[in-house]
Amino acid sequence: MDPLFDLTDRVVVITGASSGIGASAARCFADRGARVVLAARRKERLDELAADLPGAVPVACDVADPDACAALVDRAIAECGRLDVLVNNAGTHHVGPAEDEPVETFSAVVDLNLTSVFALSQAAARPMLAVGRGSIITIASVFGLNGAGQVPQASYSASKGAVVNLTRELGAQWARRGVRVNAIAPAFFSTEMTTAMFDDEGATRWMRRKTPMGRAGELDELHGALVYLASDASSYVTGTTLPVDGGWTAV
Ligand SMILES: NC(=O)c1ccc[n+]([C@@H]2O[C@H](COP(=O)([O-])OP(=O)(O)OC[C@H]3O[C@@H](n4cnc5c(N)ncnc54)[C@H](OP(=O)(O)O)[C@@H]3O)[C@@H](O)[C@H]2O)c1
Repeated sequence: MDPLFDLTDRVVVITGASSGIGASAARCFADRGARVVLAARRKERLDELAADLPGAVPVACDVADPDACAALVDRAIAECGRLDVLVNNAGTHHVGPAEDEPVETFSAVVDLNLTSVFALSQAAARPMLAVGRGSIITIASVFGLNGAGQVPQASYSASKGAVVNLTRELGAQWARRGVRVNAIAPAFFSTEMTTAMFDDEGATRWMRRKTPMGRAGELDELHGALVYLASDASSYVTGTTLPVDGGWTAV
């Protein structure tokens, strides 16, 4: 193992590990020798995944509850003795024209995609700052870097744009204290969240046409960015958002 990318025995908390990008990220880190703490609401899914990953700790957790975020960090440290990496991946969305989106829906999306990211990052950063070492990675979106428009999602775009700037601010605040904060901005990956799009031939044709690489991403194509940002390979990188998007944000 190249020491630059070595994650052996690192303790990684991943939210939204019950499906999609989070479950894939958990396998990626576990395959590289990390101890993974799997968080989501659907505990049976986490138990199933944990049975496949040596030393994995499944924790039922609603990240919309700040007390549950604090308890998740405590549990990770109690079970694994340390916390090296947090992956803020849990998220939700609402698709529909802005003029019809209920304000309550907007608030709920922002609560989960932004406020819970802050609450959990804060809870994780405290023990990381105490030892002067840690990496926090948030799964943002290309829709946090550009508007969506033809896939109308005002609350999603607003919340993802906000986590991009939260990443800059937390990265800057904690930069001299050993805790790095970065984000990944994926474009289109087939998961439960994107089922409606991937099931719609017209929508996938549109996506392929608009993406310079002409295709969606495969979940394991996010692994390089995850390992890079989690490991010492990115020791001088903080406050940044790395698109993994087949060129979506390049045009
Ligand atoms: N797929 C894409 O193309 C794409 C592109 C850009 C960004 N993203 C981002 O990637 C992240 C993962 O999405 P995905 O595509 O993998 O979708 P997904 O398969 O629907 O996964 C969403 C995850 O979030 C968890 N979650 C939702 N609400 C939660 C809560 N209150 N507390 C704890 N966990 C919660 C879900 O678990 P439970 O229901 O079990 O709690 C689930 O594991 C999201 O932040 C999404 O915005 C995805």
